Amino acid sequence: MAVTDSTSPEMRRALAPGGTLDALPDEFDVLGARYSGKVRENFTRGGERLILVTDRVSAFDVVLGTIPFKGQVLNGLARFWFDATAAIFPNHMLGVPDPQAMRAVECTPIPVEFVVRGYLTGVSDTSIARAYERGERTFCGHALPDGLRRHDKLPESLLTPSTKAPKGQHDISVSRDWLVERGLIDRERYDVLERRCLALFAAGQKIAAERGLILVDTKYELGVRPDGEIVLIDEIHTPDSSRYWYADSYPQAMARGEDPRSLDKEYLRRWLVSQGFRGEGPPPVLPDEIRAEAARRYIEVHELITGRTFEPDVEPPVARLRRNLGLSSR
Ligand SMILES: Nc1ncnc2c1ncn2[C@@H]1O[C@H](COP(=O)(O)OP(=O)(O)OP(=O)(O)O)[C@@H](O)[C@H]1O
Ligand SMILES: [Mg+2]
Repeated sequence: MAVTDSTSPEMRRALAPGGTLDALPDEFDVLGARYSGKVRENFTRGGERLILVTDRVSAFDVVLGTIPFKGQVLNGLARFWFDATAAIFPNHMLGVPDPQAMRAVECTPIPVEFVVRGYLTGVSDTSIARAYERGERTFCGHALPDGLRRHDKLPESLLTPSTKAPKGQHDISVSRDWLVERGLIDRERYDVLERRCLALFAAGQKIAAERGLILVDTKYELGVRPDGEIVLIDEIHTPDSSRYWYADSYPQAMARGEDPRSLDKEYLRRWLVSQGFRGEGPPPVLPDEIRAEAARRYIEVHELITGRTFEPDVEPPVARLRRNLGLSSR
């Protein structure tokens, strides 16, 4: 696709100021009560939530700038996965009025992150692989067998819930008993949701496998709809919420004791680390070549997962959103 060429006029316009969606002007506040996340702007009004997926990118929990077409890619992927899995687990999606916007049913979030893991991996101190390497053989209440190596497939996929930490703090992995004892969820509901999350993850892994990918682990957020039904909220199986590996790289990586090639935010992370940034202090300014390359990779991910050519909308995003969301354009 020509637009992914960093010298194409479309990419040059997207890289220029106003070419990506960053902060939203105050006029958007007529859409409802606003909650700004690092990447998404949420507006709630009359039982409905409008999620605008900006082009902001974060790593190490810091917003670094914007990547052209990233919002369209992530919103498109969330839509793809919500459509593909609605029969297995209903979700909050009502419509997609703009490539960077999703309308959803406002739900009451369940205060637990439903993390599902298919592999013994991860690098943070709270990851299952680090715990295993420290000698722990119980993770979130699940017994782990001896003899596993880093990146091995787990004997079965596991729900390893975590609590949502307040902004700025890291979530902690917990067991079902921990959640039940604290009254965050009741046991019967947990058991039902565990089965359903595992079924959803298995369906995601199957679709990913058809595209040459391994869905390694993911995080689901669930909410109670006004009619009492529990549905998926937030996003699903996007590269921001999930880890993917290229299936063809896996056997060789395991044979050599290397990391499987991953399709997540490693590209930007690696560049940041090469600049000496690991989350402390002011982040480096992203040069346009890096932004364009990151855009190319996001688009590639979209095409790989959906199996369809990505047709970016190259109109300046604020004007397009104004029109698609029915804001007066004065
Ligand atoms: N349909 C919904 N009903 C109610 N709450 C929702 C719904 N969809 C998403 N949410 C909640 O809205 C919030 C969305 O926040 P968002 O992801 O934009 O930022 P954040 O999670 O605070 O931070 P980060 O930028 O790190 O993701 C989350 O707490 C999510 O659980
Ligand atoms: Mg979030």
